[in-house]
Amino acid sequence: MAMIAYKCPEIKVTVADINESRINAWNSEELPVFEPGLDEVVKTARGRNLFFTTDKVSAIKEADIVFVSVGTPTKSYGMNAGQAADLKYVELCARDIAEHSEHSKIVVEKSTIPVKTAESLKTVLSANSQDDLSFQVLSNPEFLAEGTAVEDLNDPDRVLIGGEETEEGQQAVETLVSVYANWIDRSKIITTNLWSSELSKLVANAFLAQRISSINSISALCERTGANVDEVAFAIGKDSRIGPKFLKASVGFGGSCFQKDILNLVYLCHHFGLPEVADYWHQVIGINDWQKHRFSKNIIDSLFNTVNGKRIAMLGFAFKKDTNDTRESAAIYVGRDLLEEQANLAIYDPKVAASQIYFDLEADEGSERRERIELTDSAYVAAKGAHALAVLTEWDAFAELDFERIYEGMMKPAFLFDGRNVLDHEKLRAIGFKVYAIGR
Ligand code: UDX
Repeated sequence: MAMIAYKCPEIKVTVADINESRINAWNSEELPVFEPGLDEVVKTARGRNLFFTTDKVSAIKEADIVFVSVGTPTKSYGMNAGQAADLKYVELCARDIAEHSEHSKIVVEKSTIPVKTAESLKTVLSANSQDDLSFQVLSNPEFLAEGTAVEDLNDPDRVLIGGEETEEGQQAVETLVSVYANWIDRSKIITTNLWSSELSKLVANAFLAQRISSINSISALCERTGANVDEVAFAIGKDSRIGPKFLKASVGFGGSCFQKDILNLVYLCHHFGLPEVADYWHQVIGINDWQKHRFSKNIIDSLFNTVNGKRIAMLGFAFKKDTNDTRESAAIYVGRDLLEEQANLAIYDPKVAASQIYFDLEADEGSERRERIELTDSAYVAAKGAHALAVLTEWDAFAELDFERIYEGMMKPAFLFDGRNVLDHEKLRAIGFKVYAIGR
C-alpha cells in the first residue's frame, strides 16, 4: 500500500488496523518492519496521500477499493488443524466491509488464501449489505520477497489480477490494472479468472520451495559421496531449462509463506479427492523438516554426542538476511533441538528483537530454559567460550568477521557449522576450525 501511495500521489491510501500499537509504530520514526528502502517510501508518502489509522469504519466508508490484507495462518484448532488456512480474519473483514459500506466497492483479496475464498467473500458481502450495493471481488496475490520487498514492488516480474468473467468483473479488473499501470508496464500485468489467480500464488510458492527441498535432499547425498552441492547447483543451473535461482542448499527454508502455502495446497488436494497429489507436495515440507533436524543432529554428533551444558553460539536468527522476520526460521527449530539436548545458547542477530527470540524458543521469563539462553550484541561475545558456532542466517556482515579472533575465544576443538555456506571454509580450516558445511 505504501508503494501504491508513493507511485500514485493522486490516489489516497489509508491503511487501517485494529492493532493500535502497530498503527502508532507506522506513524512514528521507527517503522515496525525492517525492510531496505521502505523508510524512504513511507516517509515520502505519509501525510501526503498515505495515512495509517485505527478507524476502520471511516476507512471503509471512504474507500472505492478495499484491499483485504489480514493474516491467514494455518489453522491450529479443530478440523484440518495444521493444514487448512484459518479464514476467520478474512471473514470478519468481509462482514465489516458489508456493514459499513455506503456505496459499491471493489474488494481485493491480498492475503494468501485457499482457492475459492473469493466466492465465500462475495457471499458474505452480498448477504450482509444493503440491497442497492454491489461488490466486485478481485484476487491480487503478492509475490514480493522479504528483504527485497521495495525492489520487488518497484519492478515486479509480474502483477497478477484475477476477476470474475462478467462485464462488471472485467471492469473491476481494469480499474485495478490502471492503478498498477502508473508504474508497471502493462505487458507485466497478467489478468486471469479468480481461481487461476488464487491458485497461482500457492503454486508459485510450492514450486520455489520444491527447488530448495530438491537441492537440500541432494546436499545429503553430496555429503556421503564427496560431491560439492554448490558445484552441482552451479552445473545444473547452467541448463537454461533449470536456471540458476533458488538452488542454494541451506539448513532449510523458512518464512511466512512457503510452508503455509504448501499445507494449503495439500489441504486443497485432499479436499478435492487427490491424495496422490497431496502427498507429492507434502514431501517438500517433509524434506525441509528433515534438513533442519539433520543439521542439529550433525552438531550434536560432532560434539561427541553430547551438547549438555555446552555453550553453542548461533549467528543469525532471522529466516533470511535483511529482515527481522523470524517466522518459520530454521534457527528456531535448530535452537529448540539444542535446548532439548540441554545445551546453552548464545545468540546474535543484527536485527531480531530479544523478545521475539525468547518467544520463538518458548523460553518464558524466569524459566530454566530462559537461563540457558544468552542474547548478545556481537558475534564475538556470542562465540566467547563456545564449543561450536552455527551460522543460521546469511547476513553479509558474517563473512566480514575476524574469525581468528573468534577462534581464539572458543573452546577447543572449535567447531563451525555453516548452515548457509556463506563463509570461506578453506580459510576457516586453516585457522583451526573443524568445519561442517551443508552438502560438502
Ligand atoms: C517467498 C517468495 O519468494 C515470495 O514470492 C512470496 O511472495 C513469499 O514467499 P520470502 O518468504 O520472503 O518470499 O523469502 P524467499 O527469498 O523466497 O526465501 C524463503 C526461504 O528460502 C528463506 O529461508 C531462504 O533462506 C530460503 N532459500 C531461498 C534457500 O534456502 N535457498 C534458496 O536458494 C533460496
